Amino acid sequence: MSENTTEISRRGGPSLREELHSAFGTSLGMAGVLISTIFFVLSVAGLIGYTAGLINNPYFVIVTILLFPACMFSGLLLIPLAVCLGGRKRGKEGLAGWRIDLTNVRHRRIITLVCVLSVVNVVFFTLVAQKGYRFMGSPAFCGLACHRVMGPEYDTHGRSSHAKVDCLQCHAAPGFDGFLQAKFSGLGRFKGMITGQYSRPLSAPVKDLLSVATACGRCHQSDRYSGSKVKTFVHYTNTDQENPEHQEIILNVGGRNPLTDMPEGIHRHAGSGITIEYQPLNEKRTRIGAVRVSRADGVIKEYRLPGGDDGKNASAGHWRTMDCTDCHNRSAHAFDSPIEKVDSGLNSGKIDPRLTGIREDSLAVLKREYKTRLEAKERIAFDLLKLQEQRNGQDYIKTHRAAITQAGAFLAKVYQDNVWPEMKITWGTYKDHIGHRYSKEGYGCFRCHDDKHATDTGETISQDCGLCHAEPE
Ligand code: HEC
Ligand code: HEC
Ligand code: HEC
Ligand code: HEC
Ligand code: HEC
Repeated sequence: MSENTTEISRRGGPSLREELHSAFGTSLGMAGVLISTIFFVLSVAGLIGYTAGLINNPYFVIVTILLFPACMFSGLLLIPLAVCLGGRKRGKEGLAGWRIDLTNVRHRRIITLVCVLSVVNVVFFTLVAQKGYRFMGSPAFCGLACHRVMGPEYDTHGRSSHAKVDCLQCHAAPGFDGFLQAKFSGLGRFKGMITGQYSRPLSAPVKDLLSVATACGRCHQSDRYSGSKVKTFVHYTNTDQENPEHQEIILNVGGRNPLTDMPEGIHRHAGSGITIEYQPLNEKRTRIGAVRVSRADGVIKEYRLPGGDDGKNASAGHWRTMDCTDCHNRSAHAFDSPIEKVDSGLNSGKIDPRLTGIREDSLAVLKREYKTRLEAKERIAFDLLKLQEQRNGQDYIKTHRAAITQAGAFLAKVYQDNVWPEMKITWGTYKDHIGHRYSKEGYGCFRCHDDKHATDTGETISQDCGLCHAEPE
């Protein structure tokens, strides 16, 4: 049998070398070899540059570690294609197909060469896949690849305490499956991006956000004891820009107390041993119908809003288990309020408190509507000067121009950190639930702690000022 094959190969078909030669001799085969070699060199240089930290610009990274290897891969594909087409052509011309002859030294060499190159390729593409996988979950990729749309989330993330946490750590399940899932749903969004059919602003809360056990539990322990924490809030008024009121509160953050081994305080909600579920009455979860508490010892309590679900609310009926993001909804994407930023500017001296009327004028320019962020950047300092001039006269401007311009630059930055007219994101578009600053709009603790949600026996969820923090004076 084997003699027969050798016989045939010797008799009819061209040698492997001849075949390869004829394949590469075609322009298709040569193009394949050329493309894969060039892009191999470029990709390796890119990989080295990226790993060594020389290439940081995300657009360059996309080109070097995603696009170059993709080009190389298409070059590689051309080679077998050329061989195949070459073989077919021979068939049509009545010539015999090619045969591998292992007794032939040259054939063995070529096969060894192909094997070695294949191993190099496998190692190379594994490396590329690994780097590419990490990069595609990174803030740089998510934020910049879709910068126009996700720029706000990218920017706020970059200045949060989670700046070093990759987007996909919170937005995709662990492992390759989760990655693919996120990227596929990303593809759907990508289509939306190209056709322009995405909501402006992007909707929050995110419907398919990971379970908190998966997202936050990767790094945070739900029962960790934080005890109490002093927080100071500094408030100014338009009439007194120089003597702020310092509001100090002692927050009872709690957790599982190591002395008593009992959960306590604010963090009791999401700790072990208790489950709090609630029925949101709207998509934003700013109105809450029933609240159900189940404790480890089997006690179940249900608090209801009198009149509760008035039948107008579509999402009633669905129960949601309260978790970290019901309070820490903006811990990666916190937006500021204008008052908070102006007061912090006064406190840090970036806005000179001695400038007459500067607090009121600063708030006024921040709340102005600019068509684009660029326009805001260019105009805010100028507009502030104008307002100050109207208020204090031209002579005042002459002597205080530098201080006003400095305040203007600070405000322009603040504006750019928080407002994206193109995405319809303005002051207060995304609010947090962490306290009761936005309780009028339905955000924060008072959604439940309103002394109105009541059990059948008349017990309510308390709004007693001393429940969460030492009573402020
Ligand atoms: C620490 C976890 C965490 C990280 C890291 C994180 N996010 Fe988020 N993200 C969230 C949570 C929680 C929400 C839901 C906000 C809400 O309900 O108000 C969210 C919401 C969003 C939204 C919806 C719009 C909005 O502002 O609510 C987008 C888009 C988004 N994130 C993109 C990103 C991008 C891009 C990155 C990386 C640059 C990133 N996220 C990193 C937790 C995270
Ligand atoms: C990959 C790890 C990681 C993940 C995942 C993560 N965090 Fe964090 N988080 C940290 C680290 C580290 C800090 C401390 C940062 C510091 O102090 O500078 C932190 C700080 C915080 C803080 C205190 C500071 C602040 O911004 O108020 C909160 C609250 C918080 N995380 C909530 C969350 C929530 C909610 C999630 C899930 C949606 C989450 N984290 C997911 C690592 C993580
Ligand atoms: C009932 C609302 C609520 C829930 C639920 C909640 N937190 Fe908090 N958490 C708070 C408040 C309020 C603070 C203190 C706020 C501050 O420092 O500004 C806080 C503080 C923190 C801090 C900073 C603690 C420190 O010692 O400085 C971390 C980290 C944190 N939370 C993580 C989590 C994680 C993880 C979960 C989910 C397992 C969670 N929280 C659930 C309300 C909550
Ligand atoms: C979804 C409804 C809901 C929200 C929102 C909510 N809570 Fe609660 N909270 C409850 C319920 C229900 C209880 C009573 C639990 C029980 O019966 O043991 C409670 C109890 C508490 C307690 C007392 C814990 C103890 O040791 O007995 C504190 C403190 C507290 N909440 C703080 C907060 C803070 C701070 C926020 C906002 C950051 C907040 N809660 C938001 C439902 C809520
Ligand atoms: C359910 C828990 C809870 C209850 C009840 C509560 N607070 Fe608070 N409060 C908070 C939390 C949490 C913060 C911190 C917010 C933050 O970190 O930004 C806060 C912050 C504050 C601040 C400082 C914020 C600022 O901008 O100055 C004041 C003042 C305050 N509370 C007053 C009160 C008063 C008065 C009551 C009683 C009517 C009350 N609180 C009841 C949870 C509560």
